Amino acid sequence: MSVKQVLKMGHPLLKCVAEAVTEFNTLELDNLILDMLDTMEALDGAGLAAPQIAISKKLVIFGINQNPRYPNIEPIATTVLINPEITIIDEKIASAWEGCLSLPGMRGLVPRSTSIKYTGFDQNGNKFETFATDFHARVVLHEVDHLDGILYPERIMDLKNFGYEDQLLIDNEYSA
Ligand code: NI
Repeated sequence: MSVKQVLKMGHPLLKCVAEAVTEFNTLELDNLILDMLDTMEALDGAGLAAPQIAISKKLVIFGINQNPRYPNIEPIATTVLINPEITIIDEKIASAWEGCLSLPGMRGLVPRSTSIKYTGFDQNGNKFETFATDFHARVVLHEVDHLDGILYPERIMDLKNFGYEDQLLIDNEYSA
């Protein structure tokens, strides 16, 4: 399939609540997922939500290999998550630097829950649930925010902790 153009912050589709996926095992859905995987890989992202490529559906992908760019981060298997629901397991919050393919070159310090459960459907429509902590939880929360029309700058507590990657002195980062 193909690498798609990623919408940037300001685009109306990034502010919309996405629609649930109602049909599985269709060529349209399978091709959308292939396009998203190609796009995430080409841009070296840790995750991608369908609205970022102008498809306002509740579908996200994420995954991260051992990567020298993210030395302190546990790998996450490549995951397709459709119609997700999040349950917060622990009220503990931690802040870490995030980026987003819709805000290229930018980073922000974002507080997120550190322990969650997420449920949803895989590419074939099978329901599953996964418990996630720390970085894994952060990536899922970031991606699922996209489905609610939320970008990470809306969650930054102090906008002094927002800026251009090449100007901020940070070492723990990713783009999703
Ligand atoms: Ni993002």
